[in-house]
Amino acid sequence: MIEIHGVTKIYKDLVAVKDLNLTINEGDIFGFIGPNGAGKTTTIKILATLLKPTQGYAMVGGYNVLTQADDVKRVMGYMPDNFGVYDDMKVWEYLDFFAAAYKIDRNKRVQVIDDVLALTDLTHKKDAMVDSLSRGMKQRLCLAKTLVHDPQVLLLDEPASGLDPRARIELRELLKELRKMGKTILISSHILTELADFCNTIGIIEQGNLLYAGDITEITHKLRGGKMVEVKVRDGFAQQAEEALLGNSTVQEVNREGNIITVSLPIDLAEDPDAFITDILVDNGVKFNSVRELEVDLEDVFMQVTKGIVQ
Ligand SMILES: Nc1ncnc2c1ncn2[C@@H]1O[C@H](COP(=O)(O)OP(=O)(O)O)[C@@H](O)[C@H]1O
Ligand SMILES: [Mg+2]
Repeated sequence: MIEIHGVTKIYKDLVAVKDLNLTINEGDIFGFIGPNGAGKTTTIKILATLLKPTQGYAMVGGYNVLTQADDVKRVMGYMPDNFGVYDDMKVWEYLDFFAAAYKIDRNKRVQVIDDVLALTDLTHKKDAMVDSLSRGMKQRLCLAKTLVHDPQVLLLDEPASGLDPRARIELRELLKELRKMGKTILISSHILTELADFCNTIGIIEQGNLLYAGDITEITHKLRGGKMVEVKVRDGFAQQAEEALLGNSTVQEVNREGNIITVSLPIDLAEDPDAFITDILVDNGVKFNSVRELEVDLEDVFMQVTKGIVQ
């Protein structure tokens, strides 16, 4: 749904994005992660046809951003990292303005506006002034605006920045809803953990270089060299547990800190990792409180990927 082919963007003598190649498939929620100044906004603006690349090209929804910009605009919704100020405008007027700009018929607009307001949970603010909304609501309104022409592809530039925890959760729920609707979403952030929850793929960019792109769980497993399971044993059982685990030929590594033991298992383990470890413990008479596979830690992934480059 999004293909970036050798995109480079140079501002005077600054290389903001360097030979970027990337594919995002239909239905993917792609997390575009990188510190400030990494080149995220530049890349997104190129995809949104607002900026021309110095070299290379990109395809969005099957259309070339250089030669088919109008088609790209039709299938794509872009939410910038800052929203403008719209004085003296009601919420519905604001949406009507954009719907009209997308040439949606006047008689259809009422329904479209109702739909996007319902989706973004702003129906009760339909007649409120835009300026009176909280930051989280403004952010959702901005997303509503991005949705009026029912785009297949969404480009969201740091939509969660500056939101309080509650607004952040609401935004996350909304994004999950959009994912269910089958939209392909590119969402950027400089806060890594913000994206772990709802992205299935990520790309990490730093100083214009894409360091890594791919499946989020795969990346984590690859960097860790396996699947990780954490065991909390009962007092007095730590050593017994460690020996039992080390005695199993499938177990790759065992680390013990007090009563917490982390076990690494092969990436291609066919069984459920939790069940596999539980069986070993039970078979060896180890008493324990919990066994759980460790979740993806985006922060970890990011640190390891960037460390690899620096060294
Ligand atoms: N219009 C511009 N002119 C010159 N330099 C720019 C311009 N826009 C962005 N840059 C520079 O390009 C680099 C990438 O910026 P940007 O794409 O905004 O990164 P991000 O969105 O990841 O924070 C930064 O060093 C930034 O200062
Ligand atoms: Mg930016």
